[in-house]
Amino acid sequence: MTKHDSWQDKLNHSIDKTKNDPSSRFFQLATVDKFGCPHNRTVVMRHFHSEKGLIEIVSDRRSEKFEQLKFNSSVAICWYFSETREQYRMQCRTTLTCATADKSKLAREWSLLSHDLQVQFFGPPPGSPLSSYGEWRNQDRANPPANFAIVNFFIETVDYLNVAESPHLRMKFFSDPQARWQTEQITP
Ligand SMILES: Cc1cc2nc3c(=O)[nH]c(=O)nc-3n(C[C@H](O)[C@H](O)[C@H](O)COP(=O)(O)O)c2cc1C
Repeated sequence: MTKHDSWQDKLNHSIDKTKNDPSSRFFQLATVDKFGCPHNRTVVMRHFHSEKGLIEIVSDRRSEKFEQLKFNSSVAICWYFSETREQYRMQCRTTLTCATADKSKLAREWSLLSHDLQVQFFGPPPGSPLSSYGEWRNQDRANPPANFAIVNFFIETVDYLNVAESPHLRMKFFSDPQARWQTEQITP
């Protein structure tokens, strides 16, 4: 990888080089609520579509992040690959894939979830008090419930830092008014 590569090539390369480590698929996702307070959590990257500049995750629509996304669809992603020692900080615009939009895509993603994760979508809303595990564990899991969603992050800017390089390499990627990606090397 050189400083002349696109951010899409860099990210594809990082994903590929770390494919044997499941934790390399986790990144931090930050949102802000209606009071301007930040919220951050770990999520799993399900797909990266480099040609669209799009990252997908799955989530429960009843969770608090959706209240925040309703108010402000801008998010920040921070993704560190410990093996390659690269950090990607990305600002993104968010959209949702719901059953009304693409039922078959939702069904496909649903089928890839583990049994335990599927079960969780039939339980009480995330963040609500939990006294005991109930009968929702025996729900029919053939189809995703309405609260299952794919969240799409369209990358708008990327701040890339490689601390394996000496000196450290930091690049900024942003689109110009004609929506063409521009690159600038900046001070680490
Ligand atoms: C390793 C790891 C991976 C996770 N992956 C996801 C995920 O892909 N989607 C998700 O909604 N929550 C995921 N979570 C749970 C979130 O971090 C968070 O606890 C949950 O989404 C509720 O967040 P909220 O209250 O801010 O909406 C993951 C947590 C961990 C520790």
